[in-house]
Amino acid sequence: MARPPIPADSETWSLLRAHAARLADRPLARLMADDPARGRDFGLRMGSLHACFARQRYDRAAREALFALAAPLPAAFRRLFDGETVNVSEGRPALHTALRSDLGQGAVAAAARAEALAARERMAGLVAGLEQSGITDIVNIGIGGSDLGPRLAVQSLAEFDRGRFRTHFLFNADASGVQRLLPHLDPERTAVLLVSKSFGTQETLLNGSILKDWLAGRGRLYAVTAAVDKAVAFGVPGSQVLPMWDWVGGRFSLWSPVGLCIALALGMANFDELLAGAAEMDRHVLESPPGRNLAAWHALTMAWNRDVLGLGTHAVMPYDERLDLLPDYLQQLVMESLGKTVRSDDTASPVPTVPVLWGATGTSSQHSFFQALHQGSDLVPADFIGVVRPAHGYPGSHDVVLANLLAQAEALANGSPGDAPQRHYDGGRPNTMLLLDELTPRSLGSLLALYEHSVYALSVVWGINAFDQWGVELGKRLASGLLPVLSGRGSADDIADPVTRALVTEILARR
Ligand code: F6P
Repeated sequence: MARPPIPADSETWSLLRAHAARLADRPLARLMADDPARGRDFGLRMGSLHACFARQRYDRAAREALFALAAPLPAAFRRLFDGETVNVSEGRPALHTALRSDLGQGAVAAAARAEALAARERMAGLVAGLEQSGITDIVNIGIGGSDLGPRLAVQSLAEFDRGRFRTHFLFNADASGVQRLLPHLDPERTAVLLVSKSFGTQETLLNGSILKDWLAGRGRLYAVTAAVDKAVAFGVPGSQVLPMWDWVGGRFSLWSPVGLCIALALGMANFDELLAGAAEMDRHVLESPPGRNLAAWHALTMAWNRDVLGLGTHAVMPYDERLDLLPDYLQQLVMESLGKTVRSDDTASPVPTVPVLWGATGTSSQHSFFQALHQGSDLVPADFIGVVRPAHGYPGSHDVVLANLLAQAEALANGSPGDAPQRHYDGGRPNTMLLLDELTPRSLGSLLALYEHSVYALSVVWGINAFDQWGVELGKRLASGLLPVLSGRGSADDIADPVTRALVTEILARR
């Protein structure tokens, strides 16, 4: 397998490479046979979340060397929580932790916390008002961080939905979603939430305009945004606009009023539980030494697999259908945050950064892509996520799910000799097991906060800014140049790129 080069300019990376070379011929099964206490010692519990890193391709010595990368993390977490300018390219803090914890020190964190608490009060007021109204349906319109977090929470915590409202999500510019949804809604009884930090996102304004016209002054229009003026100019009454702030990144924002539809679906008490679960993880991450710190361990394991073993993708497999949106959510969180090769100091990263993150729920994915995980030419490190206690009344089914979860993690790591080459399993395929006692607002909050902090820790290790996303701008700019041509207000001849010009000509000829 091709391994990206690890630069020799860092002693730590060189040492880690030497450990990987030492362990290269040592099967994972042998690492475990030689050190049976790994199953216990390479595990860590935080609240209702247990993590097991025993099936990673490091031994105790390599793990210790790996944790040298964690040296800057305690100070870096302190900087994050205190509201220092960690988002250097945009000159601002990233204070999502202030939305759920009061662990930040100093004036900046205190001011953010006060704003977050005030917004939560206003949010509770709007939720109560809607509950007392005749509204039956909520449509959340947003995209990226203004959609994925709320949609994940509402869908995965459906058992906690109080059933007061039906909740719907419009996110894609493709109007198929609108077309399917509107026949089922009554404009007199529908509230539309426009969620956009910038209030300038094409997809959200497009769907928002369609829904606003459809409401025709009936129903109710709400907004969550950092651009209050734009929302008011769009037609949302000022009293129905909840704040967002430039100090919260979109993909870190479900804890803010961006989570309004979570609160409407699950109730304020459950929304507060979600925040409390994240706050528990915040405290653990801020106060635990790196060696006992879940986010540090998770992040360093990803760095080991990406930079030392040279593995280019990372899979997330929740063994719980309720979490089927989690891989999508994590794709944005991880890949929009870490999909950069230029560091905060403008230099190129000497090591590869983000892996391609992907995944799907088990057991169904066992019958699609698991063949390649077991015997394909690429090693794919994986996070398996299991839930110990189900929320349904079919214990026999749950036993099957748990048996499969455990079996797959073991099979990938240990492999098995075959009586024919095609029936041979190499093993050595690393994975981490994350077990939730049960899926609740609190445990989901902890799980998502773990990933947020792991992302931040990786950004510190790699020296990149996790909180900007300049890479998405070019495509948006090109699309706005093409729109007039596709709308008949411009000529294809004016398109500079010959391939795009040919494709547009093809599309126009076939309309
Ligand atoms: O894709 C870029 C992005 O800015 C994401 O970071 C963000 O979550 C999404 O678009 C939506 O942005 P907004 O909340 O401003 O509409």
